[in-house]
Amino acid sequence: MRTQVAIIGAGPAGMLLSRILGRAGVEHIVLERQTRDHVLGRIRAGVLEWGTVETLRDHGLGARMDREGHVHETINIAWRGQELLSVDTHDRVGKRMMAYGQTNIQEDLYEAADASGAEIFFEASDVQPNGVTTDSPWVSFTHGGVGQRIDCDFVAGCDGFHGASRLTIPESVRREYEKVCPFGWLGILSETPPLPILMYANHERGFALCSMRNPMLSRYYVQCSMEDTVDDWSDDRFWNELFARIPNEQADQIQTGPSIEKSIAPLRSFVSEPMRYGNLFLAGDAAHIVPPTGAKGLNLAVSDVRYLSRAFVSHYQGDDRYLESYSEMALRRVWGAMRFSWWLTLLLHRFPDQTDFDQRAQEQEISYLAGSEAAQIAMSEQYVGLPYEDQEDA
Ligand code: APR
Ligand code: PHB
Repeated sequence: MRTQVAIIGAGPAGMLLSRILGRAGVEHIVLERQTRDHVLGRIRAGVLEWGTVETLRDHGLGARMDREGHVHETINIAWRGQELLSVDTHDRVGKRMMAYGQTNIQEDLYEAADASGAEIFFEASDVQPNGVTTDSPWVSFTHGGVGQRIDCDFVAGCDGFHGASRLTIPESVRREYEKVCPFGWLGILSETPPLPILMYANHERGFALCSMRNPMLSRYYVQCSMEDTVDDWSDDRFWNELFARIPNEQADQIQTGPSIEKSIAPLRSFVSEPMRYGNLFLAGDAAHIVPPTGAKGLNLAVSDVRYLSRAFVSHYQGDDRYLESYSEMALRRVWGAMRFSWWLTLLLHRFPDQTDFDQRAQEQEISYLAGSEAAQIAMSEQYVGLPYEDQEDA
């Protein structure tokens, strides 16, 4: 087979890239290790920056999001037991957010791919980029027990944190930065009406978060030990712990119910540089992971793909400036979100070695946020998403 861009991974990054390239007339083939149902079964975060909302709309992916998504404009932080800080991002920086689950976006992307006839190989194993420092790279893989090869101009590594693409870059070229938190998030989905607001909690017992997917689907999290397993957490224990960490006023509004999904997620910050090696380009979780605090993972995948699709489309129009600047430009935004996610993680969690002094210092920072318009503006502009860079910056 021969194509212009071989895309490895059919998660949000790979499928959005496929969508944008397809509409611009750039040929491509997508290779995915899992089945379609497996990819659709993953439960991930659900807060979209406004730039993500507009990018999805611009590429014909906004119809269901605009119908079913929930626009909100406050960042809420419960603290000191019963207090609630509410920052209105629209007042502060003129922008809002959208609550719409990654699972739904993935469904919308597959539906759009079906409609446009995009070529996707699911259950492709042994996927391997080759010859990426030459002008004629190729990707080898096995499908239905048969060895295959796709010759291409470019390889887009959109295969997530555990993918093969990043590891194709020699260790002598790759620079990795990492921080792993000594705790996790236990998350549940429950078919009950969510709180009308998205609310984070800083509490001596640990972090908690009340979030939403749709009017009858709530998402809740509590910070837990990485040694815990979901079997340690009955639904009753979960609800009791959540209620112990949030103000009574909000706890009284929450309807409990059986969990329909329960899982523990680690909190990790990770960046691999550069995001380009020859004709191999990385996008999304293949190059970086953020802790879920602040929900930047999907938004970064979208901004990478915005830049990368522009680089490929401009290349076929005779302009290579965006190809040349891709790695630096993407990494500037990645590090912006990386630093913000880490800051929010530090602000809201209880660390194992945290002393009463540290707890008071955290509370003081929230108190400062509550009283300072400047601090609220700084938090809001990062939470709603830093601006994309355009041509002049290339
Ligand atoms: N060959 C082919 N496909 C692969 C391989 C491989 N060797 N390794 C991984 N994949 C596939 C995975 O099965 C997955 O479907 O690549 C896809 C990568 O998708 P994601 O992990 O969702 O990553 P990305 O598309 O970058 O999206 C980032 O997902 O993990 C969340 O929080 C993250 O919201 C963010 C978003
Ligand atoms: C979620 O809804 O899963 C979510 C929301 C906000 C976050 C992280 C996760 O900061």
